[in-house]
Amino acid sequence: MTVTRYHPVLVALHWLLAIMIGFQLGFGYFTIGKLANSDPAKLQPLSLHMGLGTAIIVLMAIRLITRYFTSHPDPSASQRQGVGRLRTPIHRLLYLVIFVTALSGWFTGFLIAHLYETPGNTLPADFAQYPSRVIHVWMALVLLLLIVLHICAAIKEMTMGDVQILGRVGFGKRKD
Ligand code: HEM
Ligand code: HEM
Repeated sequence: MTVTRYHPVLVALHWLLAIMIGFQLGFGYFTIGKLANSDPAKLQPLSLHMGLGTAIIVLMAIRLITRYFTSHPDPSASQRQGVGRLRTPIHRLLYLVIFVTALSGWFTGFLIAHLYETPGNTLPADFAQYPSRVIHVWMALVLLLLIVLHICAAIKEMTMGDVQILGRVGFGKRKD
């Protein structure tokens, strides 16, 4: 069945996850990344970051399962030619990078979980000793760049391709 919009569950999850992931990036760079590991106060905002990040993993899994069982819009005419052909591979890459970022963060959280058992604990001075943390930081940067690319592609499509593109991630009738 050809549809003009994603399933409403996917639409809701697209925007909820966009807000959550945007928050994680902003909070990660401007709050967590700015606090020294020797500061015991770092553990509290980090726990909020880890809680939200874990919710992202669960919501992304629900999104992937829903996507598998529902119909979604075909590429537009401009997405079938030139640079527009990157649409499907970039969407797949977005899924992959979100999962790798969140799971590497989760694994780092698992490695430092014991620190929360005693109040006043601090993070290890050299946090880079955890390979998962290094992966997390690099993947968060790749994710940020992909999101910028994704938004630029949406704006390009809205202005000189399929002007209705945003409707695909909006609610409403799914068939013409
Ligand atoms: C953290 C921010 C965002 C993430 C991680 C994200 C991720 C994604 C992903 C993975 C898809 C593919 C959906 C699928 O096939 O299941 C998608 C579709 C889409 N997104 Fe986003 N998105 C974000 C923000 C935005 C914003 C701000 C806009 C609007 C400017 C936008 C516009 C769209 C549009 C129009 C589609 C449908 C594209 C198509 O079917 O060709 N997204 N998004
Ligand atoms: C898509 C989801 C996530 C995004 C976008 C994200 C993003 C970030 C960013 C931008 C940073 C700061 C990097 C820096 O210091 O330069 C960070 C640090 C961190 N995140 Fe995440 N994160 C996510 C999910 C998670 C999850 C699920 C966990 C654990 C359950 C987690 C645990 C951590 C840890 C332990 C740090 C290290 C703090 C530090 O280096 O000072 N993250 N994350």
